[in-house]
Amino acid sequence: MTVLTSAGIVIVPLSVAHADQVAALHRRYIDTGFLSSLGLRFLRRLYRAIPHVPSGFGYVGLRGERVAGFIACAEHVETLYRQALSRHGVSMAVALFPQALRPSVLRRIIQSLRYPSQIGGAYPPAEVLSIVVNEAARGTGLAAQLMERAAAEFRVRGIHQVKVLVWNRKTRAKRFYEKSGFRRAGEVPYHDRVLDAYVATLGEDAPRTGAA
Ligand SMILES: CC(C)(COP(=O)(O)OP(=O)(O)OC[C@H]1O[C@@H](n2cnc3c(N)ncnc32)[C@H](O)[C@@H]1OP(=O)(O)O)[C@@H](O)C(=O)NCCC(=O)NCCS
Repeated sequence: MTVLTSAGIVIVPLSVAHADQVAALHRRYIDTGFLSSLGLRFLRRLYRAIPHVPSGFGYVGLRGERVAGFIACAEHVETLYRQALSRHGVSMAVALFPQALRPSVLRRIIQSLRYPSQIGGAYPPAEVLSIVVNEAARGTGLAAQLMERAAAEFRVRGIHQVKVLVWNRKTRAKRFYEKSGFRRAGEVPYHDRVLDAYVATLGEDAPRTGAA
């Protein structure tokens, strides 16, 4: 089912066709993140892989052919990485070349792959990996609708607890998560910064995210 927001934006499942625009939005608006530092080619590969692996899914808000915003999610982050690497590992490795030859970058890639198991147990394995709405569409409710679609899909998959990790300086994003029913549950050291971990409990039938 597609949803038309008041801004004339249609929400559809993330597909390979959207990956390049989604990667560009990620790079532009989550520019401080480690994934962005791995470059646009890597982000394109990652977003091409996400809708193809069982553990991943996402939604995009389309105005015409343009992606105005997106959300990308993992049912289980570790599994998503494993599935993406086993199916798309070669193209992802090629996309990382030559940065991955630098020991500091290689070390951070390994840390990124390990963080889900390192924090495992403390937080739910399901995660909102990224959400971005371009500046023109902010404040329109698109972000909330993307989150609602994601929450509905998590519920369909039998998942009722979801986390999101956000750089602790991202005030607007943190307010958005709180507004969406996420509550701060702790912090996670991630590379050279501290991320706030937010967790939402998704009710059985509730249409929106909501804390327990
Ligand atoms: C996070 C994001 C998707 C939220 O979408 P949005 O359209 O901005 O969200 P909303 O406007 O519905 O909610 C943001 C809340 O932040 C607050 N806010 C609004 N403008 C703000 C500003 N300039 N500075 C700080 N907070 C602000 C408000 O509390 C607002 O809630 P309200 O509408 O009830 O007043 C979007 O801001 C974005 O793409 N940011 C850049 C990418 C990013 O940081 N992604 C998250 C990475 S973890």
